[in-house]
Amino acid sequence: MANSITLCLCFSSLAILATIQGIHAVDYTFTNTAANTPGGVRFTNEIGEQYSIQTLDAATNFIWKIFQQDTTPADRKNVQKVSLFIDDMDGVAYASNNEIHVSARYIQGYSGDVKTEITGVLYHEMTHIWQWNGNGQAPGGLIEGIADYVRLKAGYAPSHWVKPGEGDRWDQGYDVTARFLDYCDSLRSGFVAELNKKMRDGYNNTYFVDLLGKTVDQLWMDYKAKYNT
Ligand SMILES: *[C@@H]1O[C@H](CO)[C@@H](O)[C@H](O)[C@H]1NC(C)=O
Repeated sequence: MANSITLCLCFSSLAILATIQGIHAVDYTFTNTAANTPGGVRFTNEIGEQYSIQTLDAATNFIWKIFQQDTTPADRKNVQKVSLFIDDMDGVAYASNNEIHVSARYIQGYSGDVKTEITGVLYHEMTHIWQWNGNGQAPGGLIEGIADYVRLKAGYAPSHWVKPGEGDRWDQGYDVTARFLDYCDSLRSGFVAELNKKMRDGYNNTYFVDLLGKTVDQLWMDYKAKYNT
């Protein structure tokens, strides 16, 4: 009798747990609209749907950690489904409307380990799905810099990126801004997470002062001086 009650309670807590996790689980879908093109075929042979979905899920969990949202779902963007497409198009990849589109032509033309390269691209694009953009007011270079910062921290920075200290402006974007944000995070661990949190409703360069006590221009000068570039 005692055992069956225990079993029953156990089942009901499992059901509650499953329901809670169900509310916060993210669904992933995959479509290769370029399956008959050379790049679409290379995708199938060297990367594949299963690996891509696994990578989307790993990237989501990694990004929640970087943004310090892994235990606070209320701080995350409300996204239930992310759809990945391999398309016959120019460029590399983009994210919009909770969709990630990757270029089959880029996959075809890439010389080297295309699986690692596309993994890095997926971390970058998945960051765009989850990051706050200051209600549209944040500089584009900062948005791209945060996406490449996540790619850097995940260990997928390509060898052709600028080195620390290189670049002309803090908001130049991509690798330049990613390296600068990495410097800022070295001054205050969790800086990028806190900056992203502040970007939920708006944007102001004074966020750098709030978090680090210096203007972003002063921080950029300090950064350049540190690396003597
Ligand atoms: C940014 O914050 C400063 C200081 O609070 C304020 O003077 C300025 O108007 C703000 N800029 C924008 C674009 O909101």
